[in-house]
Amino acid sequence: MAQIGIFFGSTTEMTAIAGDVIKTEMESYGYLVDLFDVGLTGLGPLSNYKNIIIGCPTWNVGGLQEDWDLLYADYEKLRFDNVTGAFFGLGDQMGYGYNYLDAVGILARTFIDNGGSLIGEWPTDGYEFDESRALEDDKFLGLALDYDNQDMESEMRIQKWTQQICELEPELLLESEHVRAKFIIKKSEPIPKKMRNKSLKSSLIHPR
Ligand SMILES: Cc1cc2nc3c(=O)[nH]c(=O)nc-3n(C[C@H](O)[C@H](O)[C@H](O)COP(=O)(O)O)c2cc1C
Repeated sequence: MAQIGIFFGSTTEMTAIAGDVIKTEMESYGYLVDLFDVGLTGLGPLSNYKNIIIGCPTWNVGGLQEDWDLLYADYEKLRFDNVTGAFFGLGDQMGYGYNYLDAVGILARTFIDNGGSLIGEWPTDGYEFDESRALEDDKFLGLALDYDNQDMESEMRIQKWTQQICELEPELLLESEHVRAKFIIKKSEPIPKKMRNKSLKSSLIHPR
């Protein structure tokens, strides 16, 4: 069974919550899923996975969330050949209608440009926004969530998206040669010192 690593950054915890729900959903399909807050772990554990899910909210009018922003220069240098990846993002389509979900566009395009195989594109039906860097051929490059305006829809969207990945695209998930996450963080990586008070700590994998 394929093993999946979910890597998220989150400033006000909503992406952390979404990541935890996605983990639970994917585990219900029998996958082994590990969840990482990149603000705590950096990018080190990414190389342990052939299947990755990346979560990033958009901040500061079209920007990456602060942890992803700090790590982006290193992320850009990674090669993703033989890696299958899916993306999810959070944003506020009413408040930031010209930049809704831009962060997904930034991270997903870099992933594709660096050799990765993208799955989990998502239709735009049910959203109201003007522009997004996450759009490609009238679809989002990943799951679009908006807890600011469409809180009620979010859980159903996560369920449908994980179903799409697990049932319709399972052949794209690659069998992993690796044992369950055991990793050492490279010292050169920037790891923000902040230690947020996370209610989700029990489900996160922490560096040893
Ligand atoms: C100052 C500020 C700037 C934001 N900029 C954007 C933006 O450009 N595009 C967008 O879609 N959402 C934007 N948002 C909305 C956040 O992405 C949204 O609230 C998200 O749920 C935050 O996720 P987090 O709790 O994981 O940090 C912004 C929110 C704030 C407070």
